[in-house]
Amino acid sequence: MTTSPTGRRFPAEFEWGAATASYQIEGAADEGGRGPSIWDTFSATPGKVVDGHSGKVAADHYHRTAQDVAMMKDLGLHAYRFSLAWPRIQPTGSGAFNPEGLDFYSRLIDDLLAAGIDPVVTMYHWDLPQALEDAGGWPVRDTALRFADYARKVVETYADRVTVWTTLNEPWCSAYLGYGSGVHAPGRTDGAEALAAVHHLNLAHGLAGRAVREALGDASTLSLTLNLHVARPDDPESPADLNAVRKIDALANRAFLNPVLDGYYPADLLEDTAAVTDWSFVEDGDLEITHTGLDVLGVNYYATQRVRTFTFDHERAMADGHGASAASPWIAADDVEFLAQPGPTTAMGWNIDPSGMTELLVGLSRTYPGLPLMITENGAAFADTVTPDGRVHDEERVRYLHDHVEAVGAAMDAGADVRGYFVWSLMDNFEWAYGYHRRFGIVRIDYDTLERTWKDSAYWYRELLRTSTVPPVEGASELA
Ligand code: FCB
Repeated sequence: MTTSPTGRRFPAEFEWGAATASYQIEGAADEGGRGPSIWDTFSATPGKVVDGHSGKVAADHYHRTAQDVAMMKDLGLHAYRFSLAWPRIQPTGSGAFNPEGLDFYSRLIDDLLAAGIDPVVTMYHWDLPQALEDAGGWPVRDTALRFADYARKVVETYADRVTVWTTLNEPWCSAYLGYGSGVHAPGRTDGAEALAAVHHLNLAHGLAGRAVREALGDASTLSLTLNLHVARPDDPESPADLNAVRKIDALANRAFLNPVLDGYYPADLLEDTAAVTDWSFVEDGDLEITHTGLDVLGVNYYATQRVRTFTFDHERAMADGHGASAASPWIAADDVEFLAQPGPTTAMGWNIDPSGMTELLVGLSRTYPGLPLMITENGAAFADTVTPDGRVHDEERVRYLHDHVEAVGAAMDAGADVRGYFVWSLMDNFEWAYGYHRRFGIVRIDYDTLERTWKDSAYWYRELLRTSTVPPVEGASELA
């Protein structure tokens, strides 16, 4: 049964696309002059990625770009969001640029344009050159300055063909999962470093944003992609639970939105985290640099969170053997508890709640009127199976996409200025710490043969793009 109405019509100029990221699909990790990234190192470290999987081969996109672009054209994509691998373009993150790496993306951009597909480029989707991590990584200011050089180079190289520039993908993950909880590369667990990384990522965005505007002037579309959190209180009447929401909103959302769109860090964030850091890494003039404003805000949405405040009983925790609590990405928020959500979940264990998409978009458009929004990622992992007819009948994914696209439409009805939607992901890929054990693609990758097979969701998406009208879930398998 379809959970929301069907048949909504989107404006003809609404931009429909699909998204990927370099380390997740390219493979060819040691080819073309690419240097090592933190994800090569992390995945080669036992116990960090399930089954020791890595992006060495991934979906082999590096060798199959022509075939993949042809597939995008068959799907009818208006736009393709992909990321540049910094270590492919500048192997050690400073100094010499690698012409082979620059050429690889240049050809990809040409192929896309020839196919009538807009290239939407992300400069950084987590593959930091290892040499920069060895020099201190994102907790160190110099990494932001190195990023500025890299950004200037790529913008100068591609500005004749690319106008939509996203600086960073989900700096929340880079900072808090990379340096806080350590479940992402480089795997450090230090709250003060995580917060320093937050600032240096914001600074990197600001410096790269200047490079984009200098090179492209009025023609530029400057963007930043955030995974904003929709945290809801367990008990909406409880001041303590509302305070938990406030804390998560500060760490996850306002820590990025405020410096970029308003030119400051929220006072409550500085206060909440005062025991961890004094924020002295924010230097005079930094907030003018971070304060770029945006031509469009990229929004990645998957699920919601339900939180409450609890009182940590230290004695009891020690007695239970849980004294040393696992590192958390939520710095200085040990009293916030994330509760299991009612309702269905995806294979990631993430709850399925399209209403959070509407709430997020409408909320943003009220806080930042006049700021165009773009869904730069939305999608779901499920345990897909190939049936004897060679097909993948991924009805759950079709339903997930259907309901979330409808939720985007509902936000537009309520006044949100949403310009486009990118499904995550074009194809199955390396899902970070989960390796190849989670499949998000609308196209299946057979990791033995590297064959690409359209899932029912791909046919359904093609129909949506062809008609600008949301097709029903039922019957998706007949659209092949
Ligand atoms: C986002 C990432 C993307 C992918 C999806 C599932 O956080 O940006 O690379 O892993 O989640």
